[in-house]
Amino acid sequence: MSTLITGIAELTTQDPERRVLHDAAIIVDGDRIAWLGSAAKAPAADERVDAGGRAMLPGWVDSHTHMVFAGDRSAEFEARMAGQSYAAGGINVTTRATREAGDEQLAALLRARIAEAVRGGTTYLETKTGYGLDVAEEARHARIAAGEVDAVTFLGAHLVPAGADAGEYTDLVCGPMLAAVRPYAQWADVFCERGAFDEEQSRRVLLACREAGLGLRVHGNQLGPGPGVRIAVEVAAASVDHVNHLEQADVDALAGSWTGWDRDSAEGEPGTVATCLPACDLSTREPLAPGRLLLDAGVEVALASNCNPGTSYTTSMNFCVGTAVLQMGLSLDEAVRAGTYGGALALRAQDEVGSIEVGKRADLHLLQAPAAIHLAYRPGMPLTHAVWRAGKRIV
Ligand code: NIG
Repeated sequence: MSTLITGIAELTTQDPERRVLHDAAIIVDGDRIAWLGSAAKAPAADERVDAGGRAMLPGWVDSHTHMVFAGDRSAEFEARMAGQSYAAGGINVTTRATREAGDEQLAALLRARIAEAVRGGTTYLETKTGYGLDVAEEARHARIAAGEVDAVTFLGAHLVPAGADAGEYTDLVCGPMLAAVRPYAQWADVFCERGAFDEEQSRRVLLACREAGLGLRVHGNQLGPGPGVRIAVEVAAASVDHVNHLEQADVDALAGSWTGWDRDSAEGEPGTVATCLPACDLSTREPLAPGRLLLDAGVEVALASNCNPGTSYTTSMNFCVGTAVLQMGLSLDEAVRAGTYGGALALRAQDEVGSIEVGKRADLHLLQAPAAIHLAYRPGMPLTHAVWRAGKRIV
């Protein structure tokens, strides 16, 4: 069954020559994009949908979330707005609440968050464990996530649980916990930060997870300068996320990881994506990640929601992309690319999703606006009109 969507005022494509097509049309055949071009030249299809003069983008690829959780930390947030600083210890609060939630309850909470993300145009989603912090709970959270999202990341190394010895806990993460989570996860992550895991512990976790066949990502340089970015590049992680406090050596290391990649042709070996999380930066009152600087240095940048109860309780990629334009100095094109193709690169899913190209999965986001710049021009407005995932209309 093929569908011709016409009446697209502005179609964001991956073509380096003409990023945007006006008065465009697209044909979806099954779960794939089969054709795109000028509406005047569109071939026939089995059915026809009129986009009504709206703008169409690829669906958002949200490459960093922590959606498997129960409980509420709004009081912590309120205290932060009154001047308290963010401390990773709040993770323990969510861990307690999440351990108390049964499988059904946890799955229902996760599904509700995914549904919210989808209603905001997200069509490809990663989520992490990290609120279990013991073998059985980490495995349970990974198992629940595995049936619901596109990519699962093992984050047993999120925090050393209260009262535990850091070295012994790191051994547990690298041994029995990794073995228990492995069947459900494709990725592994470590929170490399003062108050969480130090350089040696982080490296140990990453190498053990790589040995087990997981792809790697790192939470790095969120709350202060540190070794996170450099370790991420050293182990060839697919992304390093947060990147708020960077030194020149960090930027150079990230840029160096992209020298084998041709941005225009998307050929070569991708390096370590710098994932910026602007909603988190606002919620923790950290300086916004230097996305402009990183792009200028030749680093591929992703934007993600970081949906979690501690530092960024939003699923809105529309908000993150709009904020990147308003406050991070990214152009609209750069911000949209970071929220789609950048996220796909961070999940090494760029051959399948993240751009509107013939042959790719038909993940489409139709805005309630004639042009994508409305994401920044009309901040906070409900701008998602329709969403297709793998060719199926889901919003
Ligand atoms: O990505 N930084 C570490 N992890 C989360 C926050 C977790 C929490 O506070 O619950 C983040 O911001």
